[in-house]
Amino acid sequence: MMTDETPAIEGALDFTNDWFKPERRREWMQLFERIPGRRLLEIGSYEGASACFLIEHLGGRHPIELHCVDTWEGGVEHQTVRTDMSEVEARFDANIGRATAAAGHPVRFFKHKGLSRLWLARLIASGLSNRFDFIYVDGSHQAPDVLTDAVMAFELLRVGGVMVFDDYLWAEQLPQGRDPLRCPKPAIDAFVNLNFRRCRPMMAPLYQFYVQKTAH
Ligand SMILES: C[S@@+](CC[C@H](N)C(=O)[O-])C[C@H]1O[C@@H](n2cnc3c(N)ncnc32)[C@H](O)[C@@H]1O
Repeated sequence: MMTDETPAIEGALDFTNDWFKPERRREWMQLFERIPGRRLLEIGSYEGASACFLIEHLGGRHPIELHCVDTWEGGVEHQTVRTDMSEVEARFDANIGRATAAAGHPVRFFKHKGLSRLWLARLIASGLSNRFDFIYVDGSHQAPDVLTDAVMAFELLRVGGVMVFDDYLWAEQLPQGRDPLRCPKPAIDAFVNLNFRRCRPMMAPLYQFYVQKTAH
């Protein structure tokens, strides 16, 4: 059944998972009622489900600029499941192409293939500090990587912009239990605590964590 949260072009897109769930779409639609969403950066794109939502929803309202960073090699958590990442990347390319073609307004799209810490450094070095309205952090789920992504992406976020961390409460289920270095939460908590004077947590479902930049 089509709902307001279902992209109109959904049937034309090709996804093999439902990580970007209808409730996430609904929550992000509410968020974009409160903040502008013209300059967007995503760390971790996989097949492009969240990126296509941004193109469909925001590109239907006004021109957007979207940067997607991914190795298209999968995270540590993908290594136990046999995933052909070249097929994932091909689906990403096709999905983004279709979503962009169907968007009501121009989409300036940038695909950055490689490690997020290297691409974030390049974006900072190319003068994009304080540029983005919205940054989605959904790449590596290893705590040291999440902390690096958070610190570097925050430099790219403008004051008033919002950074959303996915999988705040997710942890890899390992034979020995959970490992605090193999989940995002300790990194997100450390980042938010140390940047207490520069950001504020926003009301959001606990599975994702939103922080708004309040100062340079
Ligand atoms: C959970 S998926 C992203 C899902 C996507 N946002 C969606 O909603 O469909 C995580 C992605 O992060 C990428 N990734 C993992 N570690 C990375 C790193 N260090 N740098 C860049 N990308 C990384 C993986 O290749 C994978 O495609």
